[in-house]
Amino acid sequence: EIKACLFDLDGVLVDTARYHYIAWRELAEELGFVFTEQDNERLKGVSRAASLNILLEIGGIELGEAEKARLAEQKNNRYVEYIAKMDSSEILPGALGFLKECREQGIKVALGSASKNAMTILNNTGLTPYFDAIIDGTHTSAAKPDPEVFLLGAQAVGTAPEQCVVFEDAAAGILAATRAGMRSVGIGSPETLSAATLVIPSLQQISVAALRESFSVV
Ligand code: G6P
Ligand code: MG
Repeated sequence: EIKACLFDLDGVLVDTARYHYIAWRELAEELGFVFTEQDNERLKGVSRAASLNILLEIGGIELGEAEKARLAEQKNNRYVEYIAKMDSSEILPGALGFLKECREQGIKVALGSASKNAMTILNNTGLTPYFDAIIDGTHTSAAKPDPEVFLLGAQAVGTAPEQCVVFEDAAAGILAATRAGMRSVGIGSPETLSAATLVIPSLQQISVAALRESFSVV
């Protein structure tokens, strides 16, 4: 039986991936190299510090910790400027309807995001009231694919891992769900999310009834 749904934020509920991308691309430009949209795929679901390391590796640049901290802050300051202007129009298709349906059906709803900016995004888009628990990058010590963020989410809504379903757009997040002992729905393409229990293009293609049906046989 499904008792809780745990949602990743970026790329599942809101379209923030492009803001992350623009902010990282600007940083790369300043450092003197091109950072493509394809490169950006590697940063999805990855923490800020780890993202910077990947970016620097792509640019073939080695830096000390203090300089890295400064650049991560610089990127974040830009990103924060972008998300300050977000509103409910940036909620991804199907997300609001499915969150509402979960609540109506008595399913607990929790956030499981790596982002330290999650509260700003949830408040600006009006999504905060739909959650029973919010676990974000300010609550965790280990990044996905570590299961910590989802285990904390399950605990916060008082649900056993086997009764939770995780919704994720990143391969690292699907792996985190599996390691937490949870089933998962991949949002995006089957190529990158093949480890998920089920893969759909967006939350428009799911309902609580359909979820119960497809997971009853798994
Ligand atoms: C999510 C995004 C990543 C981002 C991470 C940290 O997982 O998919 O692209 O790097 O959150 O976000 P933050 O807002 O703390 O920099
Ligand atoms: Mg994501």
